[in-house]
Amino acid sequence: MAFYYRMDKLLTFPSGLVKYMFQSSFEQIWETLDKNHVILITDENIFRYYKPLFKDHKTLLVNPGEGAKEISTIERLSKELVSLEATRKTILVGVGGGVITDITGFLASVYMRGISFGFVPTTLLGMVDAAAGGKNGVNLGFNKNMLGTINQPDFILYDTSFLSTLSDDEWSNGFAEIIKYACIFDEALYNELHKNSITTYKNDGDALAMLIERCVDWKNKTVMEDEHEKGVRKLLNFGHTAAHAIEQLYEIPHGKAVGIGMIIASMISVSVTGLEKSITEDIKRLLSLYHLPVKFKFDPKRAMELLRMDKKRNEQLMDYILLDKPGKATVHSLPFEVIENALNAYESEN
Ligand SMILES: NC(=O)c1ccc[n+]([C@@H]2O[C@H](COP(=O)([O-])OP(=O)(O)OC[C@H]3O[C@@H](n4cnc5c(N)ncnc54)[C@H](O)[C@@H]3O)[C@@H](O)[C@H]2O)c1
Ligand SMILES: [Zn+2]
Repeated sequence: MAFYYRMDKLLTFPSGLVKYMFQSSFEQIWETLDKNHVILITDENIFRYYKPLFKDHKTLLVNPGEGAKEISTIERLSKELVSLEATRKTILVGVGGGVITDITGFLASVYMRGISFGFVPTTLLGMVDAAAGGKNGVNLGFNKNMLGTINQPDFILYDTSFLSTLSDDEWSNGFAEIIKYACIFDEALYNELHKNSITTYKNDGDALAMLIERCVDWKNKTVMEDEHEKGVRKLLNFGHTAAHAIEQLYEIPHGKAVGIGMIIASMISVSVTGLEKSITEDIKRLLSLYHLPVKFKFDPKRAMELLRMDKKRNEQLMDYILLDKPGKATVHSLPFEVIENALNAYESEN
């Protein structure tokens, strides 16, 4: 029987120490932080759902959604910090999904050349991915995360009770990243996910808490080794190369795009690493189980143009994360032609 209890983990990264507070409750932030120095940042949805948590605390509000992740928001919030007389002693705490943790981490890293910050992720995707790892950025028009920093928060507090109000779609988006960790690092988890469903984890708080911590551990293990993504951290981009192109062309949530990207990467793997062909079908089954789409109509030509765009004119190769087998991924330098063929093959199957 699963037995789970609260345990804090103090982790050391090249850019700083982070206290991971798993299985906690939001109110515990006030056990260690001086209320007078804290400024909370959240979005209007979370503020509406959890109003009492923000009562009597200085709170800055952001519009919900990806559109807020722009430099104009950073400028506005910086001015509000000045009005609130925020100093180098101020601690910014982002309470929200990946949009809020990205905004908070970036803002805290540049305001007065850097002040302390912490995160309370409130989406599944935020918990297993966006809040961890120290990368925080905003978009520059269509260019996702073009402006950013690598800087660790002081703490990340996990309170899974926030997930009670999360929409079904957002649960699925979070599971796309969980499936990603299983594919690249953890065959046992890959098998476990096949046996379960979103409902299983919604109904079993211990299983959910263990699942989240397991994914965060995988991410941290990678980031501790390679914070600046020179090597092993690249593996976390499994499914993300094609996903980013699709996300730039169509309004599709990140998790759904990553799911499609993982199918395309596994199709390429079959010819490059010798991944068993049945695994592609297996991954599709897993995505469907967690209500993620396996079919999506997109223009492979335009996607390819975007993929080529950030390469120099005469560069013909691109790093791509492929699977050797479930639980084992490797980085490959692929000719554009191989990627183009896979995009066309995916498109013609749908
Ligand atoms: N920095 C990183 O390493 C990293 C990694 C992955 C993703 N990201 C970024 O994260 C963002 C996506 O994160 P996300 O999926 O959490 O998006 P999000 O922050 O936009 O949240 C999704 C939606 O859920 C709502 N919401 C949040 N918590 C809720 C709750 N508890 N109950 C009800 N509704 C709630 C939000 O208001 C929003 O409408 C993207 O911008 C992506 O680039 C960053
Ligand atoms: Zn992602």
